[in-house]
Amino acid sequence: MSRLIVISNRVAPIAEGKPTAGGLAVGVFDALKQAGGIWFGWNGEIVEGSTPPDDVRLESRDNITYATVALARNDYDLYYRGFSNGTLWPVFHYRPDLSSYDRREYAGYLRVNEWMVARLKPLIKPEDRLWVHDYHLLPFAQACRRAGLRNRIGFFLHIPFPAEQVMATVPPHQELVEAMCEYDQLGFQTDSDRRAFTDYVRRRLGGSRVVDRAIELDGKRIGVGAYPIGIYPEEIQRLSLKHSRSRQITNLKQGLVQRRLMVSVDRLDYSKGLVERFTAFERLLETKSEHRGQVSFIQIAPPSRSDVEQYRQIRRQLESAAGRINGRFSDLSWTPLRYINKSFDRSLLMSLFRASQVGYVTPLRDGMNLVAKEYVAAQPPDDPGVLVLSEFAGAAEELEEGALLVNPYDPDGMAERLHRALTMPLPERRERYEHMLQRLNDNNLSHWRDRFLHDLQESGTPG
Ligand code: G6P
Repeated sequence: MSRLIVISNRVAPIAEGKPTAGGLAVGVFDALKQAGGIWFGWNGEIVEGSTPPDDVRLESRDNITYATVALARNDYDLYYRGFSNGTLWPVFHYRPDLSSYDRREYAGYLRVNEWMVARLKPLIKPEDRLWVHDYHLLPFAQACRRAGLRNRIGFFLHIPFPAEQVMATVPPHQELVEAMCEYDQLGFQTDSDRRAFTDYVRRRLGGSRVVDRAIELDGKRIGVGAYPIGIYPEEIQRLSLKHSRSRQITNLKQGLVQRRLMVSVDRLDYSKGLVERFTAFERLLETKSEHRGQVSFIQIAPPSRSDVEQYRQIRRQLESAAGRINGRFSDLSWTPLRYINKSFDRSLLMSLFRASQVGYVTPLRDGMNLVAKEYVAAQPPDDPGVLVLSEFAGAAEELEEGALLVNPYDPDGMAERLHRALTMPLPERRERYEHMLQRLNDNNLSHWRDRFLHDLQESGTPG
């Protein structure tokens, strides 16, 4: 089997042989551990100035070589903070109103993609397979081809792909989609994302033909598929038991007395719908007074991309909403909302999921949302909690029959669903849980990886 070369903007910090968090990191790490190869990308370091350091840091552990580069401050500003997170991220999450475009940032984005290819090229052998991840690297294959690399190259988008009209709000949209068509195989999280992409290609790129699971463009065939990323449910179940008797979880349970617990865990991002979620919780306390003093809601939201203005704004809004809700409803022995801006060990989070009665996962838009899947997998099978899930999370396509789906733009509807979740009888909870667990087992993380790599192998016509 040829080596696998994985390229992602961020090479995840490895703690105790495992990436610390995040869907991309967990998925990529697992794929590499099995196949062996290189994980190439940014190591999170920023070097002051505009000249990037050219050296690639190599570090090998187990089967994997981590090949990482630092970014110059100027490149970080243009490529990462600017075009990737100030232009693409909001539009791909259906928020063109939060997006801003600057030609210099786009030029920086293209340049950094080319610079990364130049750093990676000396490490590549002709028979290696390349698997590129996420929106920071849409033009990576194009840069590879320009640099003369003829390897098979696949791409997986971890975030949604927007509907054609929304995509068109990114000024260089056509160039970007044409660059995506330089890959041999494209993977999306859901069938709707795959359809949005093929619709774009059919309508905007003249001369293309869309056939089953592939598109044809200028005589080239590009594989296009939906590969919903999964988890290993048994591993999550095991992690969730690790802390079940730890001091933190025991203290939490004692502090709750007979109260019910609702839990949410997200990066602090406007796409996660945290303000709407807080408002719906407030509506629940307003309209169903029996939950006052009886329900505690823990929102864990570690800050993210805090040098992007939109992220600073959402943080301020949340602080104000949390203050308002607690000011309105707390009493001497009960605080309704615990809003925590720091990250926790993964196994502690899984134990927290296990100890709670409701997993409250309501993004306005999300590629997949593995928290929803992890919440289900962490439940005690004899007394499982209920998943309240946004219909706009990719995970809803798989979990719609077991979760209570909500529209995060409807605070009353969400409050009703929360009430239903908090009062759901055990037989219904078990039936829903078993249904969801079955889906998670049928499409676990290795299934995601194997399906994509199989299709990559079958795709394209490498030189
Ligand atoms: C999302 C993206 C990933 C990204 C992660 C953390 O999951 O899909 O590509 O790495 O967020 O964001 P950051 O900007 O800190 O890498």
